[in-house]
Amino acid sequence: MQVDTQKIVVLGTGGTIAGRAQAAGDNVGYVAGEVGVQALVDAVPGLAQAAGGALAAEQVAQIDSKDMDGAVWLALAQRVQAHLGDPAVRAVVVTHGTDTVEETAWFLHCVLAAHKPVVLTCAMRPATAVTPDGPQNLLDAMAVARAPGARGVLVVCAGALHGARAVQKVHPYRVDAFASGEAGPLGWVEEGQVRLAQDWPSAPDGWAQAALEKIANGAPWPRVEILTSHAGATGAVADALVRDGVQGLVVAATGNGTVHHALEAALLRAQQAGVAVRLTTRCALGQVVPRAGAPLPLARGLSPVKARIALLLELLGAPAPQ
Ligand code: SIN
Repeated sequence: MQVDTQKIVVLGTGGTIAGRAQAAGDNVGYVAGEVGVQALVDAVPGLAQAAGGALAAEQVAQIDSKDMDGAVWLALAQRVQAHLGDPAVRAVVVTHGTDTVEETAWFLHCVLAAHKPVVLTCAMRPATAVTPDGPQNLLDAMAVARAPGARGVLVVCAGALHGARAVQKVHPYRVDAFASGEAGPLGWVEEGQVRLAQDWPSAPDGWAQAALEKIANGAPWPRVEILTSHAGATGAVADALVRDGVQGLVVAATGNGTVHHALEAALLRAQQAGVAVRLTTRCALGQVVPRAGAPLPLARGLSPVKARIALLLELLGAPAPQ
């Protein structure tokens, strides 16, 4: 074994990877976020070797990621940032639920200048499953964490390596639950080796780092909600949200950024009232192609949930992502 002098830190946040079921054959009726991260790490044969010898585990949260919130994001970002700044740390691996891992990855990508790898991994089957996928995903995450040139916030699941911007959960049950749309995965992990299809993400600059500092210093998270344009849509929800003090609205629009006329009228009223509105598409692939004269601004190719995060950070003073 080649021994690395730097360690890899595994931060646990919960999820199915840490899930426990009553019966070993049950892959859906389990409770997420039950097994501690140290126990997860200890249970994987060869993980310390895959990490190069030095491995540390730290529990940041223990939740089902459907319940992810700003407090956990802040705690996680601060722990990742602290470890990245430590010369003794080579990389950070984060264990996370699959349901919102794409949001956490994008959030960390925005607020951290991750010149070292930050590798999020997860599992679709609980730790108590007959054949859990978490152990292999952890081994693959270690391979990515130690790969020459690796940097930025990355997601590893089912042997595929994804970038924070494009990754999306696309299947509710299959072990291979993630895709990167038209961009495709950055690469794959095979027998402990990373095979890249694309270059590593370009050197991240943590363009929204100042927004994270504001939150850490006590600024409240802005309120940004997501609406969908659909057949029979009305403006009632948008109007109610404006009355309720919403600061931003992200709209999953139809097709190339079109919105039902009743909802569009309400969104224009919201914009007039000072609410920031961003349009994205509810289509699974591609992005809205800008058209001249469109009355509402676009969210630059982000999915609705990632556009919401970008708008949260913008409302905290960050520039819009490129
Ligand atoms: C979660 O997202 O925490 C539960 C579901 C999963 O990890 O697959």
